[in-house]
Amino acid sequence: MEIVFATNNINKLKEVNEIAEGSGISFILPPEGFNPEETGSTFAENSYIKAAAAAKLSGKVSLADDSGLCVEALNGAPGLYSARYAETRTLRIERLLKELSNISNRNAQFICCMTLVSPDGQVLNRTTGFCKGHITNAPHGNNGFGYDPVFVPENYNITIAEMNETDKNNISHRGNALRQMINYILNTNL
Ligand code: IMP
Repeated sequence: MEIVFATNNINKLKEVNEIAEGSGISFILPPEGFNPEETGSTFAENSYIKAAAAAKLSGKVSLADDSGLCVEALNGAPGLYSARYAETRTLRIERLLKELSNISNRNAQFICCMTLVSPDGQVLNRTTGFCKGHITNAPHGNNGFGYDPVFVPENYNITIAEMNETDKNNISHRGNALRQMINYILNTNL
C-alpha cells in the first residue's frame, strides 16, 4: 500500500521507508507544488497543515510529521522552532551549546507528532513519539541530521550522530511515532 508522506525532504522519506520496511506500506512524495506554510503553534497543528495540504494536492490519504528538540533548561526551546533556531545547521548547534554553556541540567527530548489525513481533510489518526536524553558539551559524530551530534539518548553514551541508522530508528521519536501509525494503518480499512 502506498501512502503520501508530506515532505519535500528526500532524507526524511528514506528514513520513514526504512522504518516501514517489511510492513507492506511504502511512502511516496507528494505531487509537485507541495509547499505549505508551517503556521501552527504546536507540532500537532503543523503536522496537520502539512498532511492536509498533501492530501488535497494528491487526492490520497497522506501522512505528515512535525518534530523538534525540546530542552528542559530552556523551557522547551528550540521546540517548534528547531529548524529555524539559526541560519545553518552548524550555527543552530552552536547557539544551543552557547545557551546551555553555564547550565548543568542538560535534559532534553526529541518529539515527533504524526497526523494521517484523508483527501477531504479529516484527521484519521494522530500519534506522538518521544526520545529522551541529554545535550553534550560539544558535537560528536557525522551521521544523521539536525541536532544528532549533540544528543545522547537515555541508556547510551554516544550521540545519535555516532549511531547507525537502524539503531537510531529503533529508539527515535520518529520511529516511535511511525510504528504506532503503521499499526493503525494495518488495522484499519483506509
Ligand atoms: P521538521 O519536523 O521537518 O519541521 O524538522 C524539525 C527540526 O527539528 C529539524 O530541522 C531538526 O533541526 C530537528 N530535528 C527533528 N528530528 C530530528 C532528528 O531526528 N535528529 C536531529 N534533529 C532533529
